[in-house]
Amino acid sequence: MNFRRDPLKYIDTRAIEGGEAFWLPDRQLCIRDAGLGRAVFRNQDRLYLGASDFFTGRSGVLAPRKIQIRIGAEARALLEARMEAVDIEHAVDSLDAKTFWPKTGNRLLLEVMFPVLAAETRSRLFKRLLADIVETRICNRKTGLTVLRRMVLRGRFYNAVSRERQRDMASDRAPGAAPPTDILGVITRSTDDRATDEQVMEIFLAFLFAIVGSVGFTLGWSVYLTARYGAAGVSSHDIISEALRLYPIAWFIARRPARAHEIADHPVTKDDTVVVCPYAIHRNPSHWEKPDSFLPERWAGNSDRSAWLPFGAGPYGCIGVAATFGIVGRALDALRATRVMRIETAGKKTEHGPMLSPGPFYLRLSLR
Ligand code: HEM
Repeated sequence: MNFRRDPLKYIDTRAIEGGEAFWLPDRQLCIRDAGLGRAVFRNQDRLYLGASDFFTGRSGVLAPRKIQIRIGAEARALLEARMEAVDIEHAVDSLDAKTFWPKTGNRLLLEVMFPVLAAETRSRLFKRLLADIVETRICNRKTGLTVLRRMVLRGRFYNAVSRERQRDMASDRAPGAAPPTDILGVITRSTDDRATDEQVMEIFLAFLFAIVGSVGFTLGWSVYLTARYGAAGVSSHDIISEALRLYPIAWFIARRPARAHEIADHPVTKDDTVVVCPYAIHRNPSHWEKPDSFLPERWAGNSDRSAWLPFGAGPYGCIGVAATFGIVGRALDALRATRVMRIETAGKKTEHGPMLSPGPFYLRLSLR
């Protein structure tokens, strides 16, 4: 059994031994108890260096935390304000009878969210590079680019972001400046001159991967599970909750201890990693009945989400929960109202990089 080759199988096998936490290779303590996971996220006793991955890139953490919070709040407000104008129903209606997933879900998300990611006024180069990054880093990430071409694309995108940022900073300082209308504008306005171009680009990419990657994969899983197992009479909201329970896209959320302490009788040191593992928590039989089955009806009238952690929790919890349910819910509603979904061919069930995405499958859509 090899953790790197098949981490989910490894975790499934180790979880049979029971317990609230167990060690993975490389001194990573994997938490499979929801209460413990929440405590790590809450970080009340400051046992962990306070940072989620979202604002941490190659160039370090964007500081202070106040700026991170402002970016999150403004991005959420922008999404809320723009959601009605997002025509996901039309995009779903235009799907071909046979489509290849999960990339169809990612491309749908890019199409409908494009104006939120890059306003009309952005340069053509910025928009084109943005689409190239989605194709190579999300849609075709297995076959995508050589390391060298990836670096070249990143360098060109960096230059394009720098230019857009210069323009934003100049217009933000003009009297009566209008509020930002896209995610890059939110980041440039909130950071002003307290971030490097590299940091601005990395945060923009984190948003891009969340919106097109994570939300697109959530649509992919929801479509796959509905087509495979059926979900008649169940709300799309409950299908999404169950899809994210069985296949939490962020399945491995790491924290670095600030000092030595004990978790569930396991001593951890500053050199170890503590991993809150929503995948293991969501399949823990002490939290869930029939944890491995797709049972969206379990959510009907059930408001207990104490062991459901696909979006993290506590001070660093995700700001995109409502947007995810909103957009994926509308896409699923539109699909289920007009089409019968059938899976034609499917390969491996899961792909596990930093995101847990469905393996490739063809979907056949026929009119009801
Ligand atoms: C299915 C979709 C999504 C999943 C599974 C997801 C998952 C997560 C998780 C697990 C965290 C916490 C990370 C940690 O504690 O280390 C997080 C944080 C965050 N997410 Fe999401 N996310 C999703 C969609 C989105 C969307 C659509 C946006 C915004 C457009 C977004 C923006 C953020 C931000 C800004 C944070 C950092 C919050 C903070 O540190 O204050 N996410 N997300």
